[in-house]
Amino acid sequence: MASLYATIVLVLLFIFLSFSNHGEAAPTYTSHYCDNATSFTPNSTYQANIKALLSSLSSHTNSTKNGFYNTTAGRDPDLVYGTFLCRGDVSADLCRKCVEIACNDIAQRCVTEKLGVIWYDECTVRYSDQNIFSIIREVPGMDISSSKIIQGDKDGFNQLLSSLMKSLMNRVAYDDQSGKKFATGEANFTGSRTLYSLVQCTPDLNDALCFRCLQSAIASIPMCCDGKQGGRVLLPSCSIRYDMSLFYRLNGTASVVLPSPSSPNSTKQGAGKRKTSSSIIIAIVAPVVTSLVLLVLGLVVLRKKARKKYNAVPEENVVEDIDGLESLQFDLSTLEAAVNNFSSDNKIGEGGFGEVYKGKLRNAQEIAVKRLSKRSNQGTKEFKNELALLTKLQHRNLVRLLGFCLDGDEKLLVYEYVPNKSLDHFLFDPERQGDLDWSRRFKIIQGISRGLLYLHEDSPLRIIHRDLKASNILLDEDMNARISDFGLARIFGVDQNQTNTRRIVGTYGYMAPEYAMQGQFSMKSDVFSFGVLILEIISGKKNSSFHDSEGAEDLTSYSWKLWRDGTPLEMLDPKLRTNYSRNEVARCIHVGLLCVQEDPTKRPMMTTVVLMLDSCSVSLPQPQSPASFLCRGNESIPQGGKGLEELSNNEVSITELEPR
Ligand SMILES: *[C@@H]1O[C@H](CO)[C@@H](O)[C@H](O)[C@H]1NC(C)=O
Ligand SMILES: *[C@@H]1O[C@H](CO)[C@@H](O)[C@H](O)[C@H]1NC(C)=O
Ligand SMILES: *[C@@H]1O[C@H](CO)[C@@H](O)[C@H](O)[C@H]1NC(C)=O
Ligand SMILES: *[C@@H]1O[C@H](CO)[C@@H](O)[C@H](O)[C@H]1NC(C)=O
Ligand SMILES: *[C@@H]1O[C@H](CO)[C@@H](O)[C@H](O)[C@H]1NC(C)=O
Ligand SMILES: *[C@@H]1O[C@H](CO)[C@@H](O)[C@H](O)[C@H]1NC(C)=O
Ligand SMILES: *[C@@H]1O[C@H](CO)[C@@H](O)[C@H](O)[C@H]1NC(C)=O
Repeated sequence: MASLYATIVLVLLFIFLSFSNHGEAAPTYTSHYCDNATSFTPNSTYQANIKALLSSLSSHTNSTKNGFYNTTAGRDPDLVYGTFLCRGDVSADLCRKCVEIACNDIAQRCVTEKLGVIWYDECTVRYSDQNIFSIIREVPGMDISSSKIIQGDKDGFNQLLSSLMKSLMNRVAYDDQSGKKFATGEANFTGSRTLYSLVQCTPDLNDALCFRCLQSAIASIPMCCDGKQGGRVLLPSCSIRYDMSLFYRLNGTASVVLPSPSSPNSTKQGAGKRKTSSSIIIAIVAPVVTSLVLLVLGLVVLRKKARKKYNAVPEENVVEDIDGLESLQFDLSTLEAAVNNFSSDNKIGEGGFGEVYKGKLRNAQEIAVKRLSKRSNQGTKEFKNELALLTKLQHRNLVRLLGFCLDGDEKLLVYEYVPNKSLDHFLFDPERQGDLDWSRRFKIIQGISRGLLYLHEDSPLRIIHRDLKASNILLDEDMNARISDFGLARIFGVDQNQTNTRRIVGTYGYMAPEYAMQGQFSMKSDVFSFGVLILEIISGKKNSSFHDSEGAEDLTSYSWKLWRDGTPLEMLDPKLRTNYSRNEVARCIHVGLLCVQEDPTKRPMMTTVVLMLDSCSVSLPQPQSPASFLCRGNESIPQGGKGLEELSNNEVSITELEPR
């Protein structure tokens, strides 16, 4: 009896607290990141500067209109850059409180690191020894998913989430009246259940950079939060969050209400116009119900799972400098002269995005010019911004983008010229297969893995290639692998004007099943394509046109079968049989099979892949059965020869969880 009484008192107390706290809650810690790759010595000037910076941030919480503040402390070489950002809906009071607490907190958590980020539900504080003002940063990132599983129509949920996120993204990036680069939105999932979401960029980003950051965050949803009722992706420059329960405050912020599917006319409503009655009820009822549930069950249902995903290695700053853009632009006449007016003699290839011509500038520099087909609907400004960002990506295993030319209908990309042809020219040509001995092939595999790791995690932008294949790997004069066509999917994939056509940019035979079937691309779908490439490089055979007398329908299942039978080396290209390292080949096959596993979560990240390939001491997990999607589903997919080529060149219409 006494315990029942105590419970009731507790329930009442909790309800009371829920009410009194409403609107004046304490800031909630979410996650933090200290980059221990760049540390300083204790008691140094840099440390003193961090201290000064944090106290300066704390004391400027009153001098911000949009919840954002940037400042520096100290002088080069000990200069520290810092910012704070409050979530767009929190009150000035709570913002102040949150920043103060976060500044104290990060000082304790990151003791000797030059770069630190701390995320609270209500605010973010970060500092770095590199300039971070008006610059997009997508690493280090965090994602958090709710432990609750979506009840009901998962595909419907994903579609709803995707369109809600998309309209919020457009709203924040291109239609932001508040100057906060913040918006919330809601949509009916089923009758009584509502999906809430929130997106925010740091207000110092320009429109295109904000769009780009959000796009990248949204693209991570399938990876972090697939099938979950709630999720968050926290990047230094932007963040997104969604849940089936209300987690933001409703007044004074831009809000989007997605219409129910039954009403065909879209109505974007601005602040104040939206109906708040149901939301207010939720806002009041939710805490009460939640506290009751929590108490009576005695269970904390909401378990947060945070994991660190990126090791931030800030390479160089990607600055959106319009002045810099000038130097990247080529005159149409210059390029026409360089490639001999696009004469067919100069044509050296034809890729998914257009034809490629070899040319020579007046200063004798050799270039490759990609003449883009006229499909990109992106506005000129965004297009230029995207390209300017791509030119900043530099790695020895990437083909360097030198600049571009936009003139009327003509869209040209100028790349450095890579002398040897693409990998498929050697790999699948019986005459030339012999030019690639094992040590060359191994070096190529390692090169691709490093280039891809850079794109995924080490460059300042997160790039998912989406069309990794042998013909996109070029070979330089030392037969080093150079990945090409990266970032183009981003330019072409984003098609904001078309809501019904959805585009898959991948190539048949290399696409992960979840990408081919559901259009869900992620770093893990790139890992899949990389796995296929490894197996192709080892066997000298194409995955897409593989024939085996014993009934394996593609290269991946064939390799898997041999692996299971304990005879993996049988898949080795006969041209290599005289001279190769058993260890290296076996290890590559093993890694390849890990990469093509059907379940994306089982596939390793590229960091791990690079480690596995570089070191014999890393022990590898057992692979599980690979995806064999050639004979899945009801559709009959043409096998072999022309049918496949056609399929790979055409755009396949499949749902994708991607901003359009
Ligand atoms: C950084 O932290 C990671 C994980 O906490 C640890 O494995 C690594 O050794 C650390 N590196 C340095 C240089 O301290
Ligand atoms: C740093 O300074 C503190 C107090 O001034 C001192 O206790 C500590 O020993 C110093 N550490 C180093 C490494 O000099
Ligand atoms: C900021 O404003 C609040 C209330 O207006 C005040 O109490 C506080 O002292 C101010 N803080 C600073 C650092 O000026
Ligand atoms: C804040 O950042 C802008 C560039 O975005 C810079 O011009 C300005 O000086 C910074 N403010 C401070 C106090 O450093
Ligand atoms: C939200 O509304 C409440 C009362 O309706 C008001 O006291 C509060 O200042 C508002 N907050 C913001 C950020 O507008
Ligand atoms: C959501 O559904 C409820 C009841 O079905 C309806 O009253 C409300 O207007 C809907 N809201 C939106 C944004 O469509
Ligand atoms: C939708 O809006 C358009 C113009 O905004 C209007 O012509 C059309 O009649 C509307 N359709 C419905 C079903 O309300």
